[in-house]
Amino acid sequence: MDNLLVFFVSFLFFSSVYGDNNCPLDSICGNNRFDIRFPFGIEEPCTYNPSFNIKCNNQGRAILSLPSAGDFYVRDINYLMQEIQVYDQFDCLPKRLTTFQLPPSSVLKPVYYRNYTFLTCSTDLVMSFHVISCMSNSTISTLATSSTNLASQMVTLYNCKVDNTFSIPVSWTPLYEAVFSSDLNNDLVLTWDEPNCQECEVEGQLCGFKNVTSGEIQCFDVPGTGNTKGIQIFRIVALALVIPAITCSLGVTCYICYEQSRDSRRSAAALQNTTAGGAAVVPQPETSIGLDDSTIESYTKVVLGESKRIPGPNHGICPICLAEYHPKETVRCIPECEHCFHAECIDEWLKINGTCPVCRNNPSPVHVNFS
Ligand SMILES: *[C@@H]1O[C@H](CO)[C@@H](O)[C@H](O)[C@H]1NC(C)=O
Ligand SMILES: *[C@@H]1O[C@H](CO)[C@@H](O)[C@H](O)[C@H]1NC(C)=O
Ligand SMILES: *[C@@H]1O[C@H](CO)[C@@H](O)[C@H](O)[C@H]1NC(C)=O
Repeated sequence: MDNLLVFFVSFLFFSSVYGDNNCPLDSICGNNRFDIRFPFGIEEPCTYNPSFNIKCNNQGRAILSLPSAGDFYVRDINYLMQEIQVYDQFDCLPKRLTTFQLPPSSVLKPVYYRNYTFLTCSTDLVMSFHVISCMSNSTISTLATSSTNLASQMVTLYNCKVDNTFSIPVSWTPLYEAVFSSDLNNDLVLTWDEPNCQECEVEGQLCGFKNVTSGEIQCFDVPGTGNTKGIQIFRIVALALVIPAITCSLGVTCYICYEQSRDSRRSAAALQNTTAGGAAVVPQPETSIGLDDSTIESYTKVVLGESKRIPGPNHGICPICLAEYHPKETVRCIPECEHCFHAECIDEWLKINGTCPVCRNNPSPVHVNFS
């Protein structure tokens, strides 16, 4: 019984569909929503070259090892755009980025590099700014900006110290230089040119070696989808066993929550009866006011080019309608946090709700432009 359980669990963590040459055509690691396939792979002889090796650890995390930059967890792989999105296992990407260096021969490359000035300031004075929280504590906060102008203003106005200027790999060119980049904490995107499998992807085919010795690649038809279906069915069966267990524990949790909230409502009511300031205990419904048209219009609109590259910490889909961006579409970005959306989506949202739908920041109506 135990063995069976281990088998199920390891199946949920890691599964592969094998091709004719004993190389997995398509592997899955953990609960990740992306699959691992050529040029990436989990077994060395089957990857395009060692740069594309991915390890799947026993917590079901896919790990990419970069030469001299170290290990990163993989969030997603976009085979069509030839992009891999990675993050720091300790949730402090900015710190990793200050020392991030890849040898010129590296196959995987950041999209852009940009110079960022890192400042250390007294936490009391800069609390209202986007500080890099994992590099800050109650006395000292770290801020980063790509605007040298803003950096020197911070030194004169807030007595900050310039830590250093680092060339940082980023996946966008900031539209707004004059803001602190909390988004250095967003995932790092790396791209590759070789091998170019985009043609196969567009045709819905799989890419692979034509000749392992020469390194030639070619597109293959997706083999008997029955094979992949088998794996899907297996996962569904495995999940079917897991879901009732989760539902059951959810039921118990809900009951406990209900009991607790009943208790806290009782004690809140008791407090209200005994103290005049009882209202402070009962949470007020959140009221939010929309922005007026002229404020919304003051936020920059961008018409997307063929590359569809969006400025800021954005990942190719509009977070409101969840549709992918297409060339020539108009996006609007919120200056403070650089989150972007289809203009028609965000305009409607901001009219009724004055906060960024992604990070809930309040965009301020007035912008100070330092650059
Ligand atoms: C960053 O600064 C260095 C040294 O000042 C300079 O050589 C380099 O071109 C700058 N890089 C970018 C991307 O601006
Ligand atoms: C905060 O960080 C600074 C520098 O990183 C360190 O010198 C200081 O001791 C830390 N303070 C606290 C309260 O942890
Ligand atoms: C594969 O490439 C090698 C080296 O280029 C060549 O010698 C060999 O004949 C090729 N094999 C096939 C099956 O085409």
